[in-house]
Amino acid sequence: MTYIIANWKMNKTAREAVKFIDALTDYLNNKKSISHHILIAPSTIHLPILSKSLSKSFNLAAQNIAFKDAGAYTGEVSAKMLSEYVQYSIVGHSERRCYFNEDHQILYQKLVMCLQHNITPIFCIGENKNDRDANNYLTIIRQQLNETLMLLDDDDLLKTIVAYEPVWAIGSGNAASLDQISELHTYIRSILFQRLGEKSNDIPILYGGSCNSSNTQSILTQNNVDGLLVGGASLDVVHFQKMIDMLDV
Ligand code: 13P
Repeated sequence: MTYIIANWKMNKTAREAVKFIDALTDYLNNKKSISHHILIAPSTIHLPILSKSLSKSFNLAAQNIAFKDAGAYTGEVSAKMLSEYVQYSIVGHSERRCYFNEDHQILYQKLVMCLQHNITPIFCIGENKNDRDANNYLTIIRQQLNETLMLLDDDDLLKTIVAYEPVWAIGSGNAASLDQISELHTYIRSILFQRLGEKSNDIPILYGGSCNSSNTQSILTQNNVDGLLVGGASLDVVHFQKMIDMLDV
């Protein structure tokens, strides 16, 4: 089953979010069958209201999760709290790494929090432009995996989703090329395979970075691409629906 995940980032008021969800629900209700995982990751503040109108055809995800279970962490929202509303959470998005200095140690703790509360982490990795230009990107990707996700035991590792999001492609309007996507997804799969063998195929590897309705199909035909993590193009419900339709083609 292919994943399509809308990461709204810091966009939409509650009213706008509800309008989007109502429109998406109507649209999906009119489809004969839905054979994909469709997830919406709104701002945390909208999760309670959106979870009330949630249909069976899609799920909600958190965009972020606290690195501790409870206590004096002003402004944070714990996995336990979020687990009342979501079964998934994005962890380690490059915007969190960059603007909030989330390092490997914090991200590992966030993964553990998710798994302790039955939340599936959607773990983001990706190199920045300097690493790409210096031809250093495979080393960076391996490091990002080795110092976080790969520290989990096998059972937990198998409960995760990986999202490859090259930082230079995010919000640029230019997705990575199909060759670049294919190279990285095959590389990530090989790292998981070395650890888990055939079972590693159960871990979805998603691509994110300037996905839209024009490149959805071609990206999804690449080996080891199990879905998309969509930013800007997921904010418009009609555009997002168009992308959902393309999963069936
Ligand atoms: P864009 O689709 O806007 O490039 O964002 C990708 C992203 O960061 C999804 O998490």
